[in-house]
Amino acid sequence: MNILAIESSCDETAAAVIQDGRVILSSVINSQVEEHKQYGGVVPEIASRRHAENICAVVQQALDDAGETFQSIDAVAVTYAPGLIGALLVGVNYAKGVALAAGKPLIPVHHIRGHIAANYLTHPDLKPPFLCLVASGGHSHIIKVNDYTKFEIIGRTRDDAAGEAFDKAARVLGFCYPGGIYIDKAAQQGERGHYKLPKPKVNGSEFDFSFSGLKTAIINIAHHAEQKGESLEINNLAADFQGTVADILTDHLMRAAEYTHSNKIVVAGGVSANSGLRSALETACREKGYELYLPKLSLCGDNAAMIGSQAYYEYLAGKRADLSLNGVASMPVDEAFCE
Ligand code: KG4
Ligand code: ZN
Repeated sequence: MNILAIESSCDETAAAVIQDGRVILSSVINSQVEEHKQYGGVVPEIASRRHAENICAVVQQALDDAGETFQSIDAVAVTYAPGLIGALLVGVNYAKGVALAAGKPLIPVHHIRGHIAANYLTHPDLKPPFLCLVASGGHSHIIKVNDYTKFEIIGRTRDDAAGEAFDKAARVLGFCYPGGIYIDKAAQQGERGHYKLPKPKVNGSEFDFSFSGLKTAIINIAHHAEQKGESLEINNLAADFQGTVADILTDHLMRAAEYTHSNKIVVAGGVSANSGLRSALETACREKGYELYLPKLSLCGDNAAMIGSQAYYEYLAGKRADLSLNGVASMPVDEAFCE
């Protein structure tokens, strides 16, 4: 079954054709990041306008690359939640138009479920159940994936998402948006142990995260250095920040694995590209004897291939949308569509 998938929840206009949830026949991503960079973050109004301008060409390219047409595909899938509402609506309305004109089933896909499914494209043998850490720009969750469409939230962030923490710290260190990748590069040139950073705990849940204290600590370190006329050791501070975030995510995930009796660990979302997090998880999983699944670097960030993968399993579970499908800005990953 070949599914045309569309993703427009943030600042990437993306389309892909995916076979049986596991094979990428094509994947096209048009990123707006260069334009948003000058504002220090994504400007929702600009994102929506660029999606509207680009979506037709991006989808046509994905069809052409796969040797498909609107008539030959079996279904159309679209990210309908969560995300920037104006951005989501461009993809949702475009997908509704295709479904109506070509007479194809319309499959609604939750963006975070898509990030998790990036691992099905990377690891052909991976099947639920497993425990998944999702760390992206908007979300940080520990999720028990009981089946392809059955999710249970074990832990979540109480304030900033991990990617947001990277981006805010990056701004203090003088890097442009989105700063996660620049912190990663700087950290690889630095060493840990030069700056003391807190590992904030959350009252009432050993699996929930809190990253806002870390952000404040970085701001304070920068202010103190400025007041004393000292320069920041950027690479070392990046190494300490990245190492601390990786330690927090890894510690929580390992505790959640023990609690849920999971020995299969999966990671998803933009921050899963982080070299410090990947190596911390590799070490921890090796020590515990857990199997670790990381997405291919090209599938960590937003893309439509992951949406097409998850769509296949939503389709098998009977999920279909009609032409009243709307975009939803905020929706928990465990909330089932139409149920
Ligand atoms: O999953 P994603 O592409 O978009 C959302 O759904 O939010 O995640 C984007 C986030 C940004 O905060 C970005 O800085 C972060 O992922 N990111 C990284 C790295 N690459 C992307 N953070 C740390 N290290 C990286 N190498
Ligand atoms: Zn995302």
